[in-house]
Amino acid sequence: MKIVGKVAKRIEAHEKAYGEAKYTPDLYLDRMIYAGVVYSNVPHGILKSIDISEAENVSGIIKVATYKDVPGTNKFGVLIKDMWFLVPVGEKIRFEHDAIALIAGETKEAVEEAIKKVKFEIEELQPVLTIEESIKDEIKVHDPESNIAFHKKIRRGEIDKAFENADLVIEREFRTDYQEQAYLETQGAVAYYDGEIMKIYASMQCPFYVQEDVSEILDIPFNKVDVIQMETGGGFGGKEDVPSYIASKAALLSYLTKRPVKLIYSREHDIKETSKRHPSKSHYKVAFKKDGTLLGVKVESYLDMGAYSTLSPIVMYRTLTHAAGAYNVPNVHVDVYGVYTNKVPCGAFRGFGSPQVLFAIERVMDEAAEKLNIDPWEIRYKNALEVGAETSTGHKLEFSVGAKKTLENIKKLSNYEELKKEVEEFNKTNKIKKRGLGWSHIIYGVSLGAGGQHLDASNSEVHVFPDGTINIMFGGTEIGQGSKTAISMIVSEILGQKLEKIKVLQTDTFIVQDSGPTVASRTTIFSGNAAKDAAEKIKNNILEFLSDKFDVEKSDIEINLGYYKIKDKNFTFDEIAKMANDANVKLNESGWFKSPKLHFDMENGVGEAYVTYTYSTQLSLVEVDTLTGKIDVKKMWISHDIGKAINYDGVIGQIQGGAVQGMGHAIMEEIMQKEGKIITDNFNNYIIPTIKDIPEIVADVVEEEFPYGPFGAKGIGEPSLMTAPPSIANAVAHATGKKITKIPISMEDII
Ligand code: MOS
Repeated sequence: MKIVGKVAKRIEAHEKAYGEAKYTPDLYLDRMIYAGVVYSNVPHGILKSIDISEAENVSGIIKVATYKDVPGTNKFGVLIKDMWFLVPVGEKIRFEHDAIALIAGETKEAVEEAIKKVKFEIEELQPVLTIEESIKDEIKVHDPESNIAFHKKIRRGEIDKAFENADLVIEREFRTDYQEQAYLETQGAVAYYDGEIMKIYASMQCPFYVQEDVSEILDIPFNKVDVIQMETGGGFGGKEDVPSYIASKAALLSYLTKRPVKLIYSREHDIKETSKRHPSKSHYKVAFKKDGTLLGVKVESYLDMGAYSTLSPIVMYRTLTHAAGAYNVPNVHVDVYGVYTNKVPCGAFRGFGSPQVLFAIERVMDEAAEKLNIDPWEIRYKNALEVGAETSTGHKLEFSVGAKKTLENIKKLSNYEELKKEVEEFNKTNKIKKRGLGWSHIIYGVSLGAGGQHLDASNSEVHVFPDGTINIMFGGTEIGQGSKTAISMIVSEILGQKLEKIKVLQTDTFIVQDSGPTVASRTTIFSGNAAKDAAEKIKNNILEFLSDKFDVEKSDIEINLGYYKIKDKNFTFDEIAKMANDANVKLNESGWFKSPKLHFDMENGVGEAYVTYTYSTQLSLVEVDTLTGKIDVKKMWISHDIGKAINYDGVIGQIQGGAVQGMGHAIMEEIMQKEGKIITDNFNNYIIPTIKDIPEIVADVVEEEFPYGPFGAKGIGEPSLMTAPPSIANAVAHATGKKITKIPISMEDII
């Protein structure tokens, strides 16, 4: 191939490095005013009254809006509309950052002052703060239903027989805690309503979700809501559904004032209000044969949804389908419950409900290996998936299963047998510092999967100009992950234009069709295939024209990077484009890709859960200071089977970044709360890894091509995070000889 699979510079690198790229806060429109939000600051209660008169009188204030000002639906919710946009008087407050009023003013200072002047009374109620309290159902978060709002299950094979036939049964409870996405750019939006069209500019992963929500809140049709994604400084799932809440607030104020309104969240408000990874509690009971063969997995898992359901039922689907891990296991019995509490609503975060259970099953695999006296690599290899095997949901795998290859590669790359001896030697000679090695082996479903097929399609638009330059717009978004570059490389490969002459425009709902969200590691497959489709149509238009003009077979025209060779003569792509344009050839096309049909029995959780899967392996070397409890991750070896790397360096970057974020989840990051209020609300007390924490990383790519992916590609966005927490936890367990049953592992836990 000419460019796919090679290393390319990020196409937007220059503008980002020079500070020229336009993020939402960089946008200033004529007559623009600033917005702020009045929050409940109480985790549970009933709103008794609101008095905005004093706030309205603050100099510079243009509008104070409450629930009475909402023209359309005053509610949010992806599956269930259980969340107020602005809480009405007489209704319930369910977490500390429920919104009560919105304020727009000439300056940020005026808005801050007015926020303090909004008077409201809340009759406080006892909050529900833990999964255990929630399950008791003594205090209800949403009357009159139970706090256990959702249940999903897998019933496959005969789980009781598996336990009867087992030589070893491991039973254990695992806990995982919150993780904050910690995107560097906080949430923000600018809205401008001119009386006809509502334009929204925002930092987000899914402009189409924002379009739908703004349309419902304001009761205006989709064709009058134009949502344009600005450069986005990270998302990690945190900008999947959440930007609707921010954009709708700015939109209402603009609708009421007919002025452009800017709303940018402070880090504190962002951490307190927006979704995080779900805390979880999971009970595992797993059956093995003496030789390590996995016979059955039984799981009961509870996810803490917080105050509103938002994306939780969809997150739970991923918890369900990943609970039994990356292995060939015939008997699977899983129950996943989503429970309400009076805390921040949880939602999408890179991995989307799977890190909680992948951590658990991978701890079980290590414990089984230890009890059966089998090497932890061996037990994974023995049970690993391959072509012809079935996943834990019974999806028969026909192609692209590089699971064993990732295990083999890491064993070799790490020189595992030698490494084991070195670690043993180190531990013999060191009393306080102890080293450990930990494996993880995971599977990750790429695409929205069986439950989300109605959203699993994408549009891309490709436009070749007469001078040969190309513009692309795709329905996914660039959120820092590198999709603009990968998709430009796909178009470059097909049309033969050089990367530096290709530009990707910001996603705009008035131009591309609803392409679903940029999530689920689906953008390379979906937007990539759609761009490939559009580029191939244009290529075909050009080749037909050239074949006619030069009297050659289409197949005799050679497409190279930057030029075409026709009858021994070279023409630059720019020359070809000019010729074609002047001959009235169609040079803009629309591409489309939709999910292959998946067969899945929702009642029993059995069938084809996802379009395809990424398979991954990690080995970590850690050093634990048994005196201070400090864990030092010294080295990580990581391999992912991603089908095909489109931009090789981009893939390595994703592997490194994901692993470091996973390391943060495993040993550093902790959301602390007091009586339902988050106290770690900035980066001085919510500690994420920085460059000094990053260990040496050996990254490896396995390419078992996926026949329906662009050039065989699958996805790397999320699997990159998932291998690290179990691998590091297993290494800490190995180093200390202690059972590790929760993440994050704090220094206190070690002590
Ligand atoms: Mo991603 S966690 O699927 O937004």
